[in-house]
Amino acid sequence: MNPVNVGLLGLGTVGGGTALVLSRNADEISRRAGRGIQVTHAAGLGIDPANPPAGTANARLTADAWEVVNDPNVDIVVELIGGYSPARELVLKAIENGKHVVTANKALIARHGNEIFAAAQAKGVMVAFEAAVAGGIPIIKALREGLAANRIQWIAGIINGTGNFILTEMRDKGREFSDVLAEAQALGYAEADPTFDVEGIDAAHKLTILASLAFGIELQFEACFTEGISKITREDVAYAEELGYRIKHLGVTRRTATGIELRVHPTLIPHRRLIANVDGVMNAVLVKGDAVGPTLYYGAGAGAEPTASSVVADIIDVTRTLTTDPTNRVPHLAFQPNAMSHDLPVLPMSEVETAYYLRMAAADKPGVLADITRILGDAQISIEAFIQKESPDGVTCVPLVLLTHKVREAQMDAAIAKIEALDSIEGHITRMRVEYLDA
Ligand code: HSE
Repeated sequence: MNPVNVGLLGLGTVGGGTALVLSRNADEISRRAGRGIQVTHAAGLGIDPANPPAGTANARLTADAWEVVNDPNVDIVVELIGGYSPARELVLKAIENGKHVVTANKALIARHGNEIFAAAQAKGVMVAFEAAVAGGIPIIKALREGLAANRIQWIAGIINGTGNFILTEMRDKGREFSDVLAEAQALGYAEADPTFDVEGIDAAHKLTILASLAFGIELQFEACFTEGISKITREDVAYAEELGYRIKHLGVTRRTATGIELRVHPTLIPHRRLIANVDGVMNAVLVKGDAVGPTLYYGAGAGAEPTASSVVADIIDVTRTLTTDPTNRVPHLAFQPNAMSHDLPVLPMSEVETAYYLRMAAADKPGVLADITRILGDAQISIEAFIQKESPDGVTCVPLVLLTHKVREAQMDAAIAKIEALDSIEGHITRMRVEYLDA
């Protein structure tokens, strides 16, 4: 059988890794796929044709990605440029030209996936995106196929390696946030715009995709609540440890009676949970299904070859199913397009219920604690743990740290506003949500 021809868009970290893995493992890959897979056309900027990247020696090289999507000999277009545009236009053109698409682009799928999948469905081509979430971890396949028997109850994931690397270094070495971020950028883990990593946008892209696959809802990136890690201090990290928790930048999506929670924020997790011990640039996704219970998926969330591992798996999948009847393929978002739920709204954050970590600076004088506990008590918020530190010499305020039981976010917002209005409280209260993630 003729080999399948791949057109690569992007020859950067992931594109280079993909070409390399496809050529290095070509024999084994063709034994798995049932036919050869070769890169025949590749687009990248600043490529020296006299010195082609590994795995592209037999490919046409160009700086113009449109040449690749319009090449009649290309069967599968692999989009590894990233970002919203021109990736969206290139992918839609490839689909219009009848080509199957593989992409690692989480931003593209989270934002424009509904449009792209509708176009692909109409044209009878596949769009595969395993590498878009958690790099080398096959979490899309797990949700779409391995867990297909389950009613998924919740997912909690560490799905941004840069953020996890920063929090781990802050905890282990007491390093400053900005210093660790610079190292993550130098190591090539961070997004082109690193605020996407530290403010949770990258994780929100990935969580949006996971929620659709888990619950059969359309991709709704705009509805995802997002809070970053840039305001976490070394003191917060230390207080959390003292209380028996680790701070992780978690993406959480949960099915409730009234809708779907979709949120990315720093979260305290009991330190003995496996996921609390996922450190450095590694990713992990914890999925709770009604039949299987909790399952945990762990691995590299970024990097050339780990991401290429998922991209190449998608290329093999597409190759295997090239001859399958298009109406009987695994659906893009796990549920059949005509069976998506439209009565499961994504809940506003004010409706979400979690436990809380609160840290505030309070005047060291009688009655302050009574005022705080009265406000919390009036709001039906129960305190689980409490730490008061001594004030450093010359400082009149003391740090107070509280852990509360579960409460609706709207109730907590109101209580925080009242506590912040007390004369005895200085500045703003730092709040983080707590997840127990117990089965
Ligand atoms: N910037 C991302 C991360 C890369 O740090 O996880 C992989 O999506």
